[in-house]
Parts: sequence; structure tokens; C-alpha cells
Amino acid sequence: MVTPVDHAKTDLPAKQEASTILYALEQILADAGIASAKSDARCLLGMALGRDEAVLPHEDIAPMDQACDDRLAAMMARRLAGEPISRIRGWREFWSLRFAVSPATLDPRPDSETMIDAAVRWVSRNAAKDRPLRLLDLGTGSGCLLLALLSELPQANGVGIDVNLDAIATARRNAASLGLGERAAFTAHSFADDLGPLGDFDVILSNPPYIPTGEIDGLAVDVKSFDPALALDGGADGMACWQQLLPRLAAALAVSGMAFVEIGRGQENAVTAEAEKANLQLSGSYHDLAGITRCLAFSIKM
Ligand SMILES: C[S@@+](CC[C@H](N)C(=O)[O-])C[C@H]1O[C@@H](n2cnc3c(N)ncnc32)[C@H](O)[C@@H]1O
Repeated sequence: MVTPVDHAKTDLPAKQEASTILYALEQILADAGIASAKSDARCLLGMALGRDEAVLPHEDIAPMDQACDDRLAAMMARRLAGEPISRIRGWREFWSLRFAVSPATLDPRPDSETMIDAAVRWVSRNAAKDRPLRLLDLGTGSGCLLLALLSELPQANGVGIDVNLDAIATARRNAASLGLGERAAFTAHSFADDLGPLGDFDVILSNPPYIPTGEIDGLAVDVKSFDPALALDGGADGMACWQQLLPRLAAALAVSGMAFVEIGRGQENAVTAEAEKANLQLSGSYHDLAGITRCLAFSIKM
């Protein structure tokens, strides 16, 4: 158990500056090799105090009672075991919106905002923003991609599919809490299912599982132990979901529409080749903040 300040041995004033506790927490986290020790310490102390926001060092906080100490110790133990802050607090910010995460959902990644950025730009270049666009998100997880794009396009509506019913329930909750429930529907479908009954879509988004099975063990503990395997595992060569998904995606994409997909590092050529077999043509590629090609755009081959 981690107790950064022992009340029995210290003579705490009625209020104390948070810096002492924060420094102690930060040291413990940093010694465990956690790169985000400073911001994690601020978030964890905030949560232990029952606050939504992080605690800053100059703040005066009330002395911590036993219940607060226990909460802090329990959360520190989880963080030291590799659990990400987002899973401990139950939500993650994505595209400046708050998304609840659950054991069934991928923890939304900042890199995936590359897709939203590309899609928003494509829509505004094509002057389609005021049209009631139809959006589709294949493998929706928390719903972060669909809901982020819907938040930018007030006339649009969309459908998110996922094979995991718990993920769908989380996505529905996120839609409701973001006030987007009227424009977002979530249904249980597999990438292998015919999407024909859902109709034609102007914009399709997808971030499917694309990590080769053999590489999952080598991923950081916060990914391999806390993201669901179903969200990560792309089969032996990372291409299994692409092979199922791309023909379905092509069949659901409107002739004038555009699909934006997230790819794994170095998957550009293999995914493009698979897309071409499905009658899609590469129309754009976008890199993330690290300069890695992260998103490809495909349209129907003319
Ligand atoms: C990498 S996660 C992406 C989640 C979310 N779109 C995001 O970007 O954070 C992939 C998602 O695909 C879903 N999935 C995996 N296999 C599937 C399949 N065969 N059919 C439909 N969805 C699937 C997983 O449950 C997971 O939610």
C-alpha cells in the first residue's frame, strides 16, 4: 500500500499545500519508470479528493482523512501495475470531448484524431457540411470516431457497428452524454456481415484491429494488459480484419463518398493493395504528430 504522507507521524496543518503530497506521489511513479509521473500524480490526487480535475501544486487542500488516503493508495497501486489513468478514472478526452471507456473498449488514442482531422477537412473542401451527410464507423468501440465527427457536422447522422455488445452499450452512453444520441445509432455487426441493409454512406471511418498477433506480447503493459484483445488483434500478419472489412466498406461507400481508415505502422502498401482488390482507390494519406502515416483515404475506383 502506498501512503505518501503518514498522518500518524506528521503534524499536518488544517490546510496544506498540495505540492508536498504531489512531489511524494511523483517520485514513487517516476521511480517505477512512469514517464507521465507529474501529470498522473495530479490526476490521482484529484480523484482521491473526489474532484474531476487535476490538483495543481500551489493549491491548498484539506488534510486527507483515512478514506481519502485509502482511495489514493488503491489508485496508486493500479497505476503502478500499469493501468492507464483513463481506465482508473473511467474516461478519456478525445477531440476535446469526454468519452467513457470500459473493459470492452479501446482507450481512444490521440493518433486517431488524424482521421477526424482529415475527414473534417475533406467535408469542408467538398462543401458538403450543410448536407445531411450519412456517416458509418466500422469497429466503433467507445464511439469516439463517429461522435467526434458528428460533433463537427451538425446536419449529419451516423451508424457505428461493433461485434462487442458491451462496447456498443458504452458508445450509446457516450452519444447520450454528449447530446448526440438523436443522430447516432449503434448496432451489432461483424466486419464479415453484409452492410447493405444500412444503406450508402458519405463518410466511412474505421480503426480496425491491425496488430499482428505475435507482436501483442511485446506491446507496453498499458496496452497489452488493459486494451481488449478483440480491439488489437489483427491476426497473424495484422491483415485479417482488413480482408474482411474492405469489400464491405466498398459496398457501403457512396460513389461520391470518402473512407478514412487508421493503419498500423508500415501497413500502407499492404492495406492499399487489399483496398484496390475491393474496387477502392487511394485518395490521400495523412501522418500523425510523430510523422508516421496513420490514416489513408479511399474512394470508389472510377
Ligand atoms: C482498434 S478498436 C477501435 C475502437 C474505436 N473506433 C477507436 O478508434 O478508439 C477496434 C474495434 O473493432 C471491434 N471489432 C473487432 N473485430 C470486429 C469484427 N470482426 N467486427 C466488428 N467489429 C470488430 C472491436 O471490438 C473494437 O471495438
